[in-house]
Amino acid sequence: MLLVLLLLFQGLLCPGERTADPQALGPPHLAAEEPLTFRLLQISSFANHSWVQNQASGWLGELQTHGWDSVLGAIRFLRPWSQGNFSKEELKNLQALFQLYFHGFIHEVQAFASQFQFEYPFELQISSGCRMSDGEASESFLKGAYQGTDFLSFQGNSWQPSPGAGSRAQNVCRVLNRYRDIKEIVQGLLSGTCPRFLASIPEAGKAELERQVKPEAWVSKGPTRGPGRLMLVCHVSGFHPKTVGVMWMRGEQMQLGTRQGDVLPNADGTWYLQVTLDVATGEAAGLYCRVKHSSLGGHDIIIHWDGYSRLLILIGLTVTVILVMLIVLEFWFKKQSSSCNSLSRHVPDPAIGANTQDARGSGHQLCSALESWAKYRFLKKWKTRLSQL
Ligand SMILES: *[C@@H]1O[C@H](CO)[C@@H](O)[C@H](O)[C@H]1NC(C)=O
Ligand SMILES: *[C@@H]1O[C@H](CO)[C@@H](O)[C@H](O)[C@H]1NC(C)=O
Repeated sequence: MLLVLLLLFQGLLCPGERTADPQALGPPHLAAEEPLTFRLLQISSFANHSWVQNQASGWLGELQTHGWDSVLGAIRFLRPWSQGNFSKEELKNLQALFQLYFHGFIHEVQAFASQFQFEYPFELQISSGCRMSDGEASESFLKGAYQGTDFLSFQGNSWQPSPGAGSRAQNVCRVLNRYRDIKEIVQGLLSGTCPRFLASIPEAGKAELERQVKPEAWVSKGPTRGPGRLMLVCHVSGFHPKTVGVMWMRGEQMQLGTRQGDVLPNADGTWYLQVTLDVATGEAAGLYCRVKHSSLGGHDIIIHWDGYSRLLILIGLTVTVILVMLIVLEFWFKKQSSSCNSLSRHVPDPAIGANTQDARGSGHQLCSALESWAKYRFLKKWKTRLSQL
């Protein structure tokens, strides 16, 4: 029963493959040329016998389309078109299947952890889904990982241990392969339900996938690796699709020490990337960051490091001017406060007989408040900033 459930649900959750290296510097390809992929991802973290965290999500290409609310046991549709053309009835059935699956999966993994030699804490990841190119379903996949390493996959109509996953994966697959019904269900979901869903994604969804948004780019100084070294950082943000080529260059020469971070998601569905280069301080002049992206139509963005140094000098000058102004202001406030003191001494006794002490007191308070505001809050802050530069 346990295994049956296990298999049943893995079919629905299709987590996917990583797409080809999106960071290669070659000419960016158009999103439209890439096969459309739908995948379900499941990440289950087992801390001990009684504590599990389970996350699941659905992705169309690099766009998240579905979430899973594990409290309500409900599919969350993240886009207006995330339901494809599936009927309410069918979606309800799928949701019920997922509820059952997650429940069963966790239960069975806990129950079989020691037999399969899963050692706490451990993490299981499942990626399954299907691909379509030129309107034809081309391929489906289901892969599982244990502790971040390939563990097994579903090939044709059976479970196969991943190369190098060892006897543990062989044991799990041997057991899983005994359940023919489950294999049929998994196959049906992968080669039936998934491609049907993919084919029914409306134009609105495709337009969102293929939208072109131009990146913004800027450079800054990163944490230095040591004395006499400079860490140049090129930031590229707000682009879509995800494929981008960013390189530190000198003339036509790519700088081989260029290091690329991960392409990270922005909240609005666009992407962000940092590319760094560690150089000797004297060698930074003449370097520039080049950004290639499909939205730029061949007009690469070029940002010169020298431009950044000039900008820094400009900022430095501005800060100096502001600081001088603040010092002048400080003197002015001091002067004001001494005249405040004399002012409060000369407050005339109000006719009504209000307390002279009070009037003097509030005059004082106002002046010293102004003084400390200027002195400590503002001035200090700017001095600190300046010393950091
Ligand atoms: C299980 O793991 C959770 C999360 O790390 C922890 O809070 C809890 O105390 C653990 N329970 C046992 C019985 O070890
Ligand atoms: C959903 O879309 C698919 C693919 O376009 C189509 O074959 C199917 O007939 C549609 N189903 C309904 C209920 O509209």
